[in-house]
Amino acid sequence: MSKEALRVVFLGPPGSGKGTMGKILAEKVTVPHIAVGDLLREAVRAESELGKKAAEFINAGKLVPDELTIGLTREKLSSGECKHGFILDGFPRNLVQAEALEKTLVELNIKLDAVVYFAIPLSLVVDRLTGRRSCKNCGAVYHIKNKPPKKEGVCDACGGELYQRKDDQKEVIENRFKVYDEQTAPLVNFYVNKGKFLEIDASLGIDAVFGRLASVLGIN
Ligand code: AP5
Repeated sequence: MSKEALRVVFLGPPGSGKGTMGKILAEKVTVPHIAVGDLLREAVRAESELGKKAAEFINAGKLVPDELTIGLTREKLSSGECKHGFILDGFPRNLVQAEALEKTLVELNIKLDAVVYFAIPLSLVVDRLTGRRSCKNCGAVYHIKNKPPKKEGVCDACGGELYQRKDDQKEVIENRFKVYDEQTAPLVNFYVNKGKFLEIDASLGIDAVFGRLASVLGIN
């Protein structure tokens, strides 16, 4: 697989490490990490029309309506930023989005190299989600035990303030798991049947998971 033109989709439960691995991989292979959750949270912060519509769904742990996320993703993939590849994280999350992505890829004449599935039992990700802290300023992601910042509450990268996402509260996490089971998990079969499906054990530590990811993608 050519690392100069890597085009991959990351699929997996909340807290499986898609964002963490997306950021590390994007630096290594110099392709953009397109995280739809991050784009939506940016829109919420900016109080744009999209953000205003998306906020209540995100905070309740529900999927934002397809008509908002499909257009947003299409716009990103067709932009110059993704000309030489992308890591698409958090899209698709249901069959309607998966079919829309297929259509977009055909229209843009893009072939995916792989769909990487981050396999991990939901019971293992509760601690990852409740312990996650994110930077208000640059979006860097930490964990109070697994990846603590050097100074509590302060981002190592930019000095910004760390916060806990509203949807990382226990009650909302339960709803996200339900949505994942009902709507996103069926995509595993969808992509297994299409081929190019790669599964990695996402229950290991951060370095070990990245090692597995690089290995299945053929990146040194
Ligand atoms: P989104 O932000 O995409 O959330 P998610 O898919 O639930 O994924 P997370 O960000 O929670 O987890 P992750 O897998 O990226 O894990 P991370 O690397 O951060 O979406 C949020 C919301 O936006 C959705 O609920 C929905 O409302 C909306 N949305 C987004 N996309 C949408 C779409 N397509 N359609 C409709 N709505 C959409 O890691 C988690 C923690 O664990 C971190 O603290 C990290 O430091 C730690 N960690 C990571 N890897 C490891 C490891 N290997 N070992 C130990 N700790 C680890």
